[in-house]
Amino acid sequence: MTHQEQLHADQTLIESTLRTCFSTREPRSDLYDAMQYSLLAGGKRLRPVLVLESCRMCGGNPAAALPFACAIEMVHTYSLIHDDLPCMDDDDLRRGQPTNHKVYGEATAVLAGDGLLTAAFEMMLETKELPQDRILAAAACLAQAAGGRGMVGGQALDMAGEGHALSLTEIEELQRLKTGSLLSAAAEMGCLLAGGTAEQQAGLAKYAKRLGLAFQIRDDILDVEGDSATLGKPVGSDARSEKTTFVTLKGLKGCQDLVEQLTQEAIDALATLPDSQFLCWLAQTLAARNK
Ligand code: IPE
Ligand code: IPE
Ligand code: MG
Ligand code: MG
Ligand code: MG
Repeated sequence: MTHQEQLHADQTLIESTLRTCFSTREPRSDLYDAMQYSLLAGGKRLRPVLVLESCRMCGGNPAAALPFACAIEMVHTYSLIHDDLPCMDDDDLRRGQPTNHKVYGEATAVLAGDGLLTAAFEMMLETKELPQDRILAAAACLAQAAGGRGMVGGQALDMAGEGHALSLTEIEELQRLKTGSLLSAAAEMGCLLAGGTAEQQAGLAKYAKRLGLAFQIRDDILDVEGDSATLGKPVGSDARSEKTTFVTLKGLKGCQDLVEQLTQEAIDALATLPDSQFLCWLAQTLAARNK
């Protein structure tokens, strides 16, 4: 199987498992419709792919990690729903569809995000097929990455920075938290679930930190020179909100150079670990992504 086929197989598995998550007739169906609307709208499924593939790389069974892969995608989707709200980035398009609050209203969109966040932890903690210590380690890893010292903390810095000039150090910290945290957690969770070694976990964490920074810088580039129809979200959102990004400070060419440098550093972080070809290929593919 080529790496591209492997990626497609992972995405298909994740997609079909996510589809079963809220399939029974739920109470408050408007809330569950809103949760499913954003969760099943597509997206690259990068974080769950990282969970499955880091698990495989560390000698674990990716099928056993599926509930955790779905859980991190739920947390990510909740973060996107809230990120698009009028009180945050105020965007109208996400994953090629009107944003959650445009369809369901702001109150339901806030609650759909809350519901997805909580469902993620329910899903992880109800897993029966893995040793309890691994389940707890992976759930704790996601909790730390998603909270105030991770993604939510980064989003707070992002909002506080609107309309202010930020330094390179401040931007790096903000991006590391808002985007890097969840990507690092994804790679580390796969390793924890597989019962990988400390060396594997450290290598994967370093890889994902570099990958996360490159990923967010590429996101900032695409916000300037991307195509909204391909991206499935608006372009020009950062400038409209007066956000300082890497593009503001380094320019488009400087940013793509940085993406490539960070991608190489990500790949180097896996150099001493076996079976890392897929993750190296993934980093390279993401450096040139258009969506
Ligand atoms: C968008 O994430 C938000 C960022 C952290 C840049 P993705 O680019 O992974 O969005 P989806 O999941 O593919 O929609
Ligand atoms: C958001 O960053 C990162 C999150 C934690 C959701 P952005 O605001 O740049 O993400 P997009 O461009 O709207 O996807
Ligand atoms: Mg934002
Ligand atoms: Mg945004
Ligand atoms: Mg963006």
